[in-house]
Amino acid sequence: MKRATGVQAEGRTVTIRQDGRDRLISLNAEDDSILDAALRQGADLPFACKGGVCATCKCKVVSGKVAMAANYSLEADEVAAGYVLSCQALPTSGDVVVDFDARGWHERTADYPSRPRAATDSEPPAGA
Ligand code: FES
Repeated sequence: MKRATGVQAEGRTVTIRQDGRDRLISLNAEDDSILDAALRQGADLPFACKGGVCATCKCKVVSGKVAMAANYSLEADEVAAGYVLSCQALPTSGDVVVDFDARGWHERTADYPSRPRAATDSEPPAGA
């Protein structure tokens, strides 16, 4: 039994979707989370605190079911939309797919430049 989820995830597999690619990982008895299992198997996934606080490990469950041991960062509407903290999540079904390309605020912030864009950056002046 792992953490507070009470989930027996040993032997389950999870598909990790990142940068448009799928990678199948398996969980063993030592893995505390999907993130731990994926890192152990060479995945380069984002994380920081591993404590359910920072949401750096946020991803979206697009198939199957998972349980989180703790959540100190996701809002109820995010959880309702399928977002989870991979550092706190273990699979509770056999068909879990988690998508790190669908991370909510990351998608939204990617739409905006990191600094204000001046009109002269790439556009000709009006009337030119
Ligand atoms: S790594 Fe911080 S919440 Fe998962």
